[in-house]
Order: sequence, then C-alpha cells, then structure tokens
Amino acid sequence: MDTRTTPTPAFDMVLFGGAGDLVMRKLLPSLYQAHAAGLLNQQGRILALGRKELSRDDYLAFVEKNSRQHVKAHFDAAAWDSFCARIEYLKVDASQPRDFPALADKLKGDDDRVVVCYLATAPNLFAGICENLAAVGLNSGNVRVVLEKPLGTDLDSSNEINDDVARFFKEEQLYRIDHYLGKESVQNLMAIRFANALFEPLWRREWIHDVQITISEDLGVGSRGDFYDGTGALRDMVQNHLLQLLCIVAMEPPANMEADAVRDEKLKVLKALRPFSEQDVAAKTVRGQYKAGAVGGQPVVGYLSEQGIPADSQTETFVALKAEIDNWRWAGVPFFLRTGKRMQERLAEIVINFRDVPHQLFNGPMSGSHTANRLVIRLQPEESIRLYFLAKEPGDTMRLQPAYLDLDFYKAFKVRRADAYERLLLDVIRGKLALFMRRDELIEAWRWVEPIMDSWSRSSNLPPKQYTAGTWGPAASSALLSRDGIGWHEEC
Ligand code: BG6
Repeated sequence: MDTRTTPTPAFDMVLFGGAGDLVMRKLLPSLYQAHAAGLLNQQGRILALGRKELSRDDYLAFVEKNSRQHVKAHFDAAAWDSFCARIEYLKVDASQPRDFPALADKLKGDDDRVVVCYLATAPNLFAGICENLAAVGLNSGNVRVVLEKPLGTDLDSSNEINDDVARFFKEEQLYRIDHYLGKESVQNLMAIRFANALFEPLWRREWIHDVQITISEDLGVGSRGDFYDGTGALRDMVQNHLLQLLCIVAMEPPANMEADAVRDEKLKVLKALRPFSEQDVAAKTVRGQYKAGAVGGQPVVGYLSEQGIPADSQTETFVALKAEIDNWRWAGVPFFLRTGKRMQERLAEIVINFRDVPHQLFNGPMSGSHTANRLVIRLQPEESIRLYFLAKEPGDTMRLQPAYLDLDFYKAFKVRRADAYERLLLDVIRGKLALFMRRDELIEAWRWVEPIMDSWSRSSNLPPKQYTAGTWGPAASSALLSRDGIGWHEEC
C-alpha cells in the first residue's frame, strides 16, 4: 500500500503538554502538514491537554499565535482552518488522577479507534501519566504512547522510567521517538545500502577506511539553558541521535523491514561498540564548550554568559569521539562522531571514506586524494547524496581532479516531503514501530556512553576545551582524526 497517499486510520491524538514548546513548534505544524496533504483520516481528532483553564477558542488563539508561524511550507489558510476544526482542548493536570476520568469520557466510543498519547512533558511525569491513563482504562491495545527524550540521564534513571511505564503498557504500545530517524535521508541511507547492489559489497572494513558523522548547529542553547546545563551534548545528541545514525550505517541487512527485524540489527551494533576505558576516554574523546565569537557575521556570547548557565559550568556543548565496532564487518574502522552548538554552520552529514586504490597509477597532486572515494550523505540543511571520485582533467594531460555525482533530492523527486515529526507521527497512527527505539537499544546506548560521562565527571580538574563560537570546535577535534592520518570532511 502506498502510504504517501493513503490516509491514516481514524485516531485521537492526545497531546500532553499541549501548550508547550514542542507541541507549538513541531507537533501541530507537522500534523497540519499531514492534514493539508490529505493524509489524516477525516475522523482524526487532536485533543490538547494543559493545566490552564482555557476555552477551545482561547487555545486556538494561542495556537494561532505560537504555532502557525512554524508551518514551514504549503501554508494554506483554508487548510489551516479545517485543521483547527480537528483540535479540542481539555484542562487536565497530568499529575492529578482526578482529571483523567474526564479524558476517558472524551475518548470513549469505538474500541478500535487508535488513541495516541503523546507525552510532550518532562520525563518525571511519564510514570504518573501512564498510571493515571491505566486507572481509567486508557491502556488497552488500541492506545499507543509516544515518549519524548530525554528518557533518563543515565542507565539507572532510564531503566526507572522504562520500568514504570512498562507496568501499564506493553513494549509494542511504546513509541520512543528519536526524530533523527524520521529524517528522509536516514531512511534513504537504508534504501541506498539495501536496494542497490553497488554499495553493499564495499560496505565493510576491506573497503572503508573511516566513517564520520557530524551534527553541528549554529544556534546556542537559547532559552533552554536550565535544561541544557544539566544535560550536555553527550546526553542531548550522542546517546541518541548520533548513535542511531551510526547504527543505520553499520547494521547488517535485516531479514525484512519489519520493526523488530530492523531493531534487532541496530541492537547488535550497539552491543558490538567497544566500551571506553578511562584511558580511552582521555585519548579518544574531546569535549568542548563555546566561548564568545561570531556566527554568520553576528557576535554571540559564550556559553557561560548564556541565560541560566552558572559561571563555573563545565557542561560540554561539543563532543567529538572515536568509536569502534568490534565485529567482523567493522573491526579496525574508526567511526568519528561529532556534534556541537554554536558551530560554523548547521549541518548534519554522514561521510563514508573509502580506502585508497592499492596502487597509484597516476602521479600528481590529486593522486590518492582523500577527497575522492567518498560518499557524503547530507541530512541537513538540504538533503543530498554525493559520491566523490577522481576524474581526468580535460585536455592533453593526465592530471586528476576530484569530481562528484550528485543526487539532490529536491531536484530529483519533485514531490512534497514530510519532515521528521510528520513522518513519525504518521507512523505512530499507522502502528509502524521500525523508526522508534526499542527499550533494549536505549539500554545499550546508555551503557556505552556512561563510562564517558563518569570519566568526565571524575576529571573536574580538566574542564572542557574552549572553542570560539562560529568555528568547527576545539583544535583537539582535528587532532583526534589526524592521528589516523585524516581530517574532517570540511578540512580536506
Ligand atoms: C534535539 C536536541 O533532540 O535535537 C536539541 O535536544 C537539538 O538540543 C535538536 O537542537 C537538533 O535537531 P535538528 O533536527 O534541528 O537537527
């Protein structure tokens, strides 16, 4: 069935934290896009919950003011109005059991109707919400729960949340969201690997020298200082988004595209990640913190001067590390991961560096060039796939120049593309779990990052390395790669 054009089944989308930032910036705009594209069942309702006493009109006015501006493309006033007709508001304090019977009342009716409870709240409310839902019978098979990150701050706290939630909901009712998995190019990476005969034979240690995965942001911590300072880049980005991307690059072909087949393969990768010893953390990780600089020509303050950040904070806003996967396919191939705030530009990309040819036939400056033999998968700002290789310069010469084959998705496929949240929300309503994290994946991811967190917290005498806002991070990040005789993609 072509799900690009088939409307979802009938549903109730219950948004806990209905007046919050995530709902305004991402969830409602994404649901609107799906609505405008005709992908939401006519019988689909959106029920926003919040603690404030608001009439439906008050809430819609709030949405108009705070959410509409985040609709990026295809805004159509008539479609927006018909979208708003789906929305209702209910005053529910998520921590108060007495508020839940009214919710159950609103949702009662058809038992087969899909009910999605999206917990866009602080994670310390998750357990209570699940318990309260169950107490009014809202945990039957047709109810799905979407859990937003952060799911804990370490393995123990993550286990605690997952244990609590599991008391009321089965694993197959739980959708742990990592919005990076909803990005079109991530799924395209699977298509490229597993639908083409060209790459898979080369996708291994014999032919790949190293892999680089970067998610850089030009923004700082903005108004999220309080949250961010207790979190840091390792928990905020590496434990989830970067590791999920690494899994998609490194996993074995699944037997099929069913959720568990895909998640089983990702889990094997996470289990094969080489654990970091104390010495490894010192040698193979770099943590940084931005200081004042300029981004896009505009001066910006350093992390320690951001709102809500203690003057002596040692929280990292940048991480680079060298990961290794101990299995037959990847033994000896370094996976360099890097992420940071206030970097030179907003960019997310995966770079696969293939090995040099075994024998150089051509002399000259470009032979054996590191810019060739490279596949670059861009997730943002634009989505593209580029294959770099060496070609002969035209004319009476045997000089080589790097060139690339470019697949620009905007140009190649002139169809509307769903953003990550839209894609994932549609998957929840349709009951497709493949792009959501299973609990065991989460456990392994925490298990792997914990020694890094622990070692960093023990070495408080070694503060994060400073980097100037608007750069690619501390110099140590380049040094991490130069020990393997290479540089980050943009340095080559
Ligand atoms: C979120 C992090 O998960 O991802 C944010 O909490 C970060 O700190 C964001 O800014 C980045 O997502 P994207 O899709 O804008 O790259």
